[in-house]
Amino acid sequence: MKEELITKLNTFHQELQKPFIGRDEEVKVILLSLVTGEHTVLIGEPGTAKSALIRRAAQLLNAKIFIYLLTKFTEPSELFGPLDINALKQGKYIRITKHKLPEAEIVFLDEIFKANSAILNSILSILNERVLYDGYTEIKVPLWSLFGASNEVPDDPELEALYDRMLLRQHVKPISDELWKDLLNYTWKLEKEVEKIEPVMSMSDLMEINKEIFNVSLEPIKTKLIKIFAILESKGIHLSDRRKGKSLKVIAANALLNNRYKAVEEDLLVLKYIAPKDIEDFEKVNLILSEELKTPHKYLRELEEIKISVREIVSYISSFPRAPMSRFLEERLNEIYRDLEATRERVASMIIESGDKTVEKVGKDVLEQINAVMDLIRKRLE
Ligand SMILES: Nc1ncnc2c1ncn2[C@@H]1O[C@H](COP(=O)(O)OP(=O)(O)O)[C@@H](O)[C@H]1O
Ligand SMILES: [Mg+2]
Repeated sequence: MKEELITKLNTFHQELQKPFIGRDEEVKVILLSLVTGEHTVLIGEPGTAKSALIRRAAQLLNAKIFIYLLTKFTEPSELFGPLDINALKQGKYIRITKHKLPEAEIVFLDEIFKANSAILNSILSILNERVLYDGYTEIKVPLWSLFGASNEVPDDPELEALYDRMLLRQHVKPISDELWKDLLNYTWKLEKEVEKIEPVMSMSDLMEINKEIFNVSLEPIKTKLIKIFAILESKGIHLSDRRKGKSLKVIAANALLNNRYKAVEEDLLVLKYIAPKDIEDFEKVNLILSEELKTPHKYLRELEEIKISVREIVSYISSFPRAPMSRFLEERLNEIYRDLEATRERVASMIIESGDKTVEKVGKDVLEQINAVMDLIRKRLE
């Protein structure tokens, strides 16, 4: 990918994130959605910055955006534009789509699952084919990504098809209590200074980046991906064939966003935005993925545990009396020594397996600590 595009994408990422507290995950989902040209639903209570995030993303892209709050009674003309009455008098069926959804590159539909049957089919074909079938005409639409927001996941079977087409899903939770203070300070500042948002990237840049995802090598993760599908299925989390197939795009996009042309196991974490259906699935999928995937995070957690047990061993050993040592204690020390040898091997292979710089650094620290304890034990045994 051209250096210039990488820079733009990074700037876009930072700028989108900038005014929000604790919305890193949401920003990531929006980025993945935009890079893949897929549709996303943000599920969460009001006031969690869902609208603000999408509006800002569109501004930073200088995209044509159409924003609408759906109700049960929303009429097609509210979204797609009114019929041209004069044309109709002459027997022609023309919609005036100016500034309406058919002209937008980014669409934000608030309360998306309020969509009624009068508009649902039109929305579905727009999502799928980028075409509005409108009575006697077909209108090709420039839609790139549609974002929906909702308080809850839909339970009406009529909405299944719509929900299925929202490839990315994120449960937007109110920020955790340790971030409340930041939120107060930040919103205060924002209320005071009105920020002028300048575009940092264009829709055509985005389309160029989009083409790059097909150059990402996905072979290395395919077997693991299929295994994860099976595990999810066995735990009652079913992905439609559409979602299974399309997951590759998101995995590739994630690799690109991390400056890689080769997908690695860590990229499969994006399944946490694709696999959940019911609200409790979000946590469930997260847990399953963190168990099943070898991610730097997972290795770092394991290293942390090893560090703690090494520290415990040190204090255990120092509680041993100085010479003379009993036969029993000598046995114990030998045992601990052998365990440490095994742990040392485990850490060494973690460093190689992960291929991650942070894991390598932390792993080497842990190796040093283990070596120091082993030295100590050898001295005690002399
Ligand atoms: N995590 C957050 N960080 C910064 N500002 C926030 C955050 N959550 C909410 N806000 C503020 O609250 C306002 C209302 O959010 P809004 O986008 O309308 O929420 P929603 O669409 O989820 O109902 C936003 O404009 C923003 O200023
Ligand atoms: Mg809103």
